[in-house]
Amino acid sequence: MSDLLLKSPVIPVIVIENADDAEPLAEALLQGGMNIIEITCRTSAAIESLRRIKKAFPEMITGAGTVVTREQADACLEADVDFGLAPGLNPETVQLFEQNKKPFIPGIMTPSEVEQALSLGCKLLKFFPAEAAGGLKFLKNIYAPYAFSGIRFCPTGGINLQNMAAYLNEEMIFAVGGSWLATLKQIREHRWEEITAQVKEALAVAGQVRGASS
Ligand code: 3PG
Repeated sequence: MSDLLLKSPVIPVIVIENADDAEPLAEALLQGGMNIIEITCRTSAAIESLRRIKKAFPEMITGAGTVVTREQADACLEADVDFGLAPGLNPETVQLFEQNKKPFIPGIMTPSEVEQALSLGCKLLKFFPAEAAGGLKFLKNIYAPYAFSGIRFCPTGGINLQNMAAYLNEEMIFAVGGSWLATLKQIREHRWEEITAQVKEALAVAGQVRGASS
């Protein structure tokens, strides 16, 4: 199941206010070659947007982000999202997604959280807030004792076109995520071509680091 999540080295983190923007946004991403999206449960439009994208673009791998309450987790599963993420680690959410056979990526920022994630069987983890917490240097130090376990990370928080390559250069990092690929303002202003161009740029950088197969 989590193989799905290893298909793209870049994940756009989306905050969307109006579900009517969901389809054009997904189209802009797909035009740029991006076939994965994380829509954060930070707005009331999130679940409806996820539903619409799943319906209109079945080729898009559709994830729910910022899943922090039971209510949100239930709504995401009801919408049949492909995967979920959270900034933190809530065992109840991890188990709920597991019961529904959906991959879930909990957030970690300390060794204790890595251990808790491992004990719950999670191998793909979000490192959040990446840059504020200490960036790549900090993550390398946290990872070292757990390298045996096969865990891999998706850093988010402060990632951009300039620093993404350094992260993707590390095998322990399966993808980077960020809101810079399609900002709230760009979505509000329907700047779809700009979003497509940003996605292309990011995928080109990822391709340089990881090779064309990324
Ligand atoms: C997340 O939810 O992963 C982060 O808020 C994204 O962080 P960014 O806005 O700095 O990219």
